[in-house]
Amino acid sequence: MTPDSIRQAYRDAGQDQVFAFFDDLTPASREKLLRQAAAIDLTEIDHLVKTLVRGGNASPIDVTAIEPAHYIPLPRSGGDPARWAAAKAAGEEALRAGRVAAFTVAGGQGTRLGFDGPKGTFPVTPITGKTLFQVFAEKILAASRRHARPIPWFIMTSDINHEATVSFFEAHRFFGIEPGLIQFFSQGLMPAVDFDGKILLAAPDEIALSPDGHGGSLRALVRNGCTGKMASMGIDIVSYFQVDNPLVHCIDPAFIGFHLLADSELTSKTCLKAYAAEKVGVFVERDGRAEVLEYSDLPADLAEATDADGRLRFRAGSIAIHIFSRGLVERMGAALDPALRLPFHLAKKKVPTVDAAGQPIEPSEPNGIKFEMFVFDALPFAKEPVIVETAREDEFSPVKNAGGNDSPATCRADQLRQWTRWCAAAGQTIAADPTGLPEFSFEVSPLFADSPEAFQARGAQAVVHEGVCLEG
Ligand code: UD1
Repeated sequence: MTPDSIRQAYRDAGQDQVFAFFDDLTPASREKLLRQAAAIDLTEIDHLVKTLVRGGNASPIDVTAIEPAHYIPLPRSGGDPARWAAAKAAGEEALRAGRVAAFTVAGGQGTRLGFDGPKGTFPVTPITGKTLFQVFAEKILAASRRHARPIPWFIMTSDINHEATVSFFEAHRFFGIEPGLIQFFSQGLMPAVDFDGKILLAAPDEIALSPDGHGGSLRALVRNGCTGKMASMGIDIVSYFQVDNPLVHCIDPAFIGFHLLADSELTSKTCLKAYAAEKVGVFVERDGRAEVLEYSDLPADLAEATDADGRLRFRAGSIAIHIFSRGLVERMGAALDPALRLPFHLAKKKVPTVDAAGQPIEPSEPNGIKFEMFVFDALPFAKEPVIVETAREDEFSPVKNAGGNDSPATCRADQLRQWTRWCAAAGQTIAADPTGLPEFSFEVSPLFADSPEAFQARGAQAVVHEGVCLEG
């Protein structure tokens, strides 16, 4: 596209304000603005403005027809142990055949944590302060050694943190993973608009852009050639997890196996909600199709409703761990018809912008709208979706806030409790408080052991004392 044709397209779309300061810009600034402008899909923005911004998205989500979603319970909650064993065997076979890739979404801003840098570079382990990325790397490496197959790792960044993320891995020699197995790629950006649907400028030469949500991962995987690369490597199973949860089993054979045995396109993990008001999305069914309802959309009376056993009726919490079939990513990531793609959600935000004279404005109230896609919205599009229970204490302790719930301190404590349980199962009893928190700190690298069974198999080496880190 030429500069003239880009400007014409903006005029035709009623978005000419983007070029309000163009004539006064330096050649370099003009080029920058034109590059940003050319990358925006104006047809998509027009559709979003018509349907969401002006279309009255304010109507609340209809919750009259929702039912709790079915899920496969853990053996300890009544699940069939033979079914779990069969799933594990099927997953292990797929891993030995090299069909699985790990996938981390790490494009978010981590604002709540107040940490300056990519969230994956945040230190989380209690003794050595290993970062989230290192913990994942060691888990992926441990799984690939166990199954004697390299496991490629796809990492989605965003413009905000791409360079810093890649440099971090380079500086740490990719934590021992063959560099060719890790592929970094940036997710897409969306412009913010004002309440009339006009694209906002962040500066006279800059459009107000922000990442398009973790749901943007589906099209980013396609656009960046990742699905093509997966196909050429024989990979058809994508193990998806967020950057904030070091307890996640990055590669979980039973979870993969349930996905394969059901011939599913999307399999999701659930943790049962700890209490009614817990801020996690819940799996529900509407007209027999599974979906995730964000906690903010679940009315309090439904959140608190209990069933005949006294358990929460809507208890299947969504913890953002999924298995995608490559086919679903390709189909949804490449779809042109908005009805076949992930929907966008809008959020009213304070968007720094400029006034009519080009001077910066730092709004104190929301002045604009950002558009984001959520990856769990793929569930109703997937064939044979499956939801599988996992144990919260074993798999979910995200670092989201600087203090309080879901903070570095609660996450370190949860890691220690987990290793203390492993020690107990292997015969070393460590004095602990009633919550299972041990009297002293220590650490177990995933390369030493990544499960209670692997820990026990270490025999006499699997003994801890204060301050030790058992390395692989
Ligand atoms: C999310 C889920 C919530 C779930 C919880 C579990 C949403 C809307 N909610 O909440 O249902 O119970 O996790 O921990 O997702 N990310 C990107 N690009 C983006 C935005 C986010 O890669 O444009 C990544 C982040 O880096 C992070 C993950 O997505 O890894 C989660 O994002 P975040 O905004 O922190 O979600 P939560 O509000 O914590």
